Amino acid sequence: MEVVQQMSPLSMGWCINCHRQTEVNFNDTYYSAYEDYHKEMKDGDRTKVTVEDIGGLECQKCHY
Ligand code: HEC
Ligand code: HEC
Repeated sequence: MEVVQQMSPLSMGWCINCHRQTEVNFNDTYYSAYEDYHKEMKDGDRTKVTVEDIGGLECQKCHY
């Protein structure tokens, strides 16, 4: 068996940074409820929706 290694820091900063940067696949029907964002995308006022935009920095999403 190969030796197991920790590949990522698993710190809160690591979680948060990725949530700030990563875009969600906003065309998926799962996100159809976000009507304001869809309108902003359509109007050209918004180019992307990140995990942060859908609440990925809210404390209680990870701490409860
Ligand atoms: C490499 C990128 C990345 C890292 C690192 C990461 N996440 Fe995420 N996380 C995502 C993405 C992308 C989504 C949104 C998935 C979607 O809805 O399409 C997500 C969503 C979530 C959600 C769901 C939020 C919601 O609105 O329901 C939770 C909870 C979450 N992450 C917790 C964590 C925790 C805790 C860590 C650190 C231990 C972490 N994530 C690290 C990319 C990441
Ligand atoms: C995406 C997930 C995520 C979100 C959102 C998040 N945290 Fe965290 N937080 C973590 C993780 C994972 C750890 C543990 C990190 C570790 O052990 O290195 C942590 C650790 C902490 C700690 C240290 C706890 C201890 O026992 O030392 C505090 C305090 C904290 N978070 C506060 C907050 C506050 C305040 C917010 C909102 C502004 C927040 N967190 C939002 C994932 C998150």
